[in-house]
Amino acid sequence: MPSDKKDISLSWITTEWAEDREKYFNAVSPPIWQTSNFSFDTVDQFSQAFQDERNQYIYSRGINPTTDILRKKLAALDGAEDCLLFNSGAAAIFAGIFANLKAGDHLVSVKNPYSSARKMFDAILPRFNVSVSYIDGKTIEDWQAATRDNTTLFYLESPNSWTYELQPLAAIAAFAKEKGIVTFIDNTYCTPIYQNVIAMGIDIAMQTATKYIGGHSDTLGGVLCGSAAMMKKIFDTELMTVGSGLQPFNGWLLLRGLRTLPMRLERIRQTTGQLISFLEKHEQVEKIIFPLHPSFEQYELAQQQMTAALGLVTIMLKAKSRAAITAFCEKLDHFLMAVSWGGHESLVIPRIAFIPEDVYSADNESHRHIRLYFGLEDPAYLQADLEQALEHVRKS
Ligand SMILES: Cc1ncc(COP(=O)(O)O)c(C=O)c1O
Repeated sequence: MPSDKKDISLSWITTEWAEDREKYFNAVSPPIWQTSNFSFDTVDQFSQAFQDERNQYIYSRGINPTTDILRKKLAALDGAEDCLLFNSGAAAIFAGIFANLKAGDHLVSVKNPYSSARKMFDAILPRFNVSVSYIDGKTIEDWQAATRDNTTLFYLESPNSWTYELQPLAAIAAFAKEKGIVTFIDNTYCTPIYQNVIAMGIDIAMQTATKYIGGHSDTLGGVLCGSAAMMKKIFDTELMTVGSGLQPFNGWLLLRGLRTLPMRLERIRQTTGQLISFLEKHEQVEKIIFPLHPSFEQYELAQQQMTAALGLVTIMLKAKSRAAITAFCEKLDHFLMAVSWGGHESLVIPRIAFIPEDVYSADNESHRHIRLYFGLEDPAYLQADLEQALEHVRKS
């Protein structure tokens, strides 16, 4: 094992870190401990284990040796004291938020949080007398102005996953600390590899492991990282009672994904750069929305707090009709029309899929958004596909 923190490299974390290979016959790949429960020899040991359910193998709704390897690796990746794992990103958000609110509290959120978070804020929290304010959130002043005496939580998502708005994270974290407000961020877009939010002072760093950590579109998972005290609080209440902890087989798939995470992200980063260069010059493309593109409204802030941007890019075509957007998306042969992202396969989602025909307006920019996810295929193969689909738009 590395002797101190400065020895912790990405390679250590994704492979050796937290893996006690001697304990399982020097197997190179960690085993899947597919068990619901663990037995004890004496009443005393049994009783002792219950003193610390967070660190004792008793029942796999709490912790399990396979998922525990992943827990330690992901805490190290985020530079956090501890980590909690869930069966989906949505479950992680639910637990992290619920554990930090009580009746009468007020939550401030970015105006376009991920849809399940928004549903929770709009449909569930009001039932418990928790109020929510949605703000633009691009400046520290927005957060200061929205704060009330009963504000207990700030919900951030930077960048968000369609139009990539950012929040100034270090300034918000410092202000929140002063006021005793808990900060929660969905950091799925960048992952801790490209945006180290714990180092910026954020209390709870969430990612859906379904995307880049899993990386193969074959499992779901959710991650919360933060202080040991915060993780204990969420574990003792929401994680254990909702029963949405990560299961061993899914944990093993995520461990496998994690081993190649840094190189997959690097490949996606390079492909994204190459395909943006192609798209920005194309006569059929009106606009590209991407946080590290010089045309991006918050380009400077993106450069300050993210070391890279990757994968997700939103474009608008010059042709404004619904038919043109439909033709482009349907003509793509190598981009699957599907939700999610982070796997091998490149994807496309047009916003019009969620907008009824009689509501669609070509004058409303957001209606024309088409989100592309660039996966691990050969960039030349993807570029040729984009080119032929854009050619169909030109002719239509
Ligand atoms: C930005 C973001 N956060 C959270 C989630 C929820 O994650 P999961 O699908 O693993 O529940 C998603 C899912 O698409 C997402 O895109």
